[in-house]
Amino acid sequence: MGNFCYICLSVTSHYHIMKLYTGKDINKLTELIPANSGVFAIIDNKVEDYFSAMKNWKIFPLRALESSKTLGTAAHICSWLMENKADRDCFIIGAGGGVTTDLAGFVASVYKRGVRFGLVPTTLLSSADAALGGKNGVNHLRVKNMIGTITQPEWVFQSPVFFRTLQRRVFTEGIAEMLKTFLIFSPDLYAFCVSFFKSYNHRNPSEKEERLLERLVRECARLKMEVVKKDERDHGERMVLNLGHTFAHALEGWAAANHRKILHGEAVAAGIVASAKAAAIMGICPKSLASELSEDFHSVGLKTSFGVSFSKIFNTMQQDKKASGEILTLILPLGIGNVARYLITASDLRKACGRLVI
Ligand code: GLY
Repeated sequence: MGNFCYICLSVTSHYHIMKLYTGKDINKLTELIPANSGVFAIIDNKVEDYFSAMKNWKIFPLRALESSKTLGTAAHICSWLMENKADRDCFIIGAGGGVTTDLAGFVASVYKRGVRFGLVPTTLLSSADAALGGKNGVNHLRVKNMIGTITQPEWVFQSPVFFRTLQRRVFTEGIAEMLKTFLIFSPDLYAFCVSFFKSYNHRNPSEKEERLLERLVRECARLKMEVVKKDERDHGERMVLNLGHTFAHALEGWAAANHRKILHGEAVAAGIVASAKAAAIMGICPKSLASELSEDFHSVGLKTSFGVSFSKIFNTMQQDKKASGEILTLILPLGIGNVARYLITASDLRKACGRLVI
């Protein structure tokens, strides 16, 4: 694969191996397509131009909005595949941010009971998190990722060249997911990442900075996939990756219902700080952690509060996928590099967090 770098990540319950490719040459993608397979690519229309050299791909340009991540859109893409005679040997590619990779993975895992697929994340957020680990899905009744599958892509192709044209806000939300992973697994990389992103100009990085970002994203992916390998179905260890997400998903649900725009990574940053505040109230982490995290996130351009009172998101928090009856599983930070799963009843959560503003 030339100067390509790839890491093989065998996922326990799967007989195939998900490969992670990183590199700058997008044309290398053609080497990843299985022979004799028709390629059907679902591509975020904002990045379609990057793929103009792929003449024999059939392209479904997607207007990728969180509100279009629905069963209806998935069904529409399946109809398009049928109209274009995509058979069981076809290969699906999803190229774009998290909305596109989640939808494309979902369609690939259900179309004709499942066909092979690869993902090309084009945002920092999807490269560092969404496109990795095989979670595919759509939102339903305003609840995020309520319907979906866990099916691994055959490969993920990461390239920092896609990041240069992202809007500042879209680039920055990806930093939140990277910091989350390092906060869970690596205090050193967490600290490094905070100082790296303080001065990173994503539109005009130096060669050296871009190479460093590529390595950081790869390291983030490697750490994430280590835990996915141990618990692909998300019943145990993998749950730590949901740090801040119970608050974040509920905040996103509130935003959708109130016509406010809060991006997933922005909600994750606010959710992590809210989790640290909740952990301090429960007496399991120092009070200073929330302010330390908040300061770090602000320094890289992330907001940590949207002024939403806890009571406004509490009902949605109870619909979290990890909730079991009255009991919610929260992932709470105890310190940098130290997180814990915490089971709490909905009524205790309300008592503890009633005064929080997220
Ligand atoms: N984004 C959390 C996970 O992949 O498990």
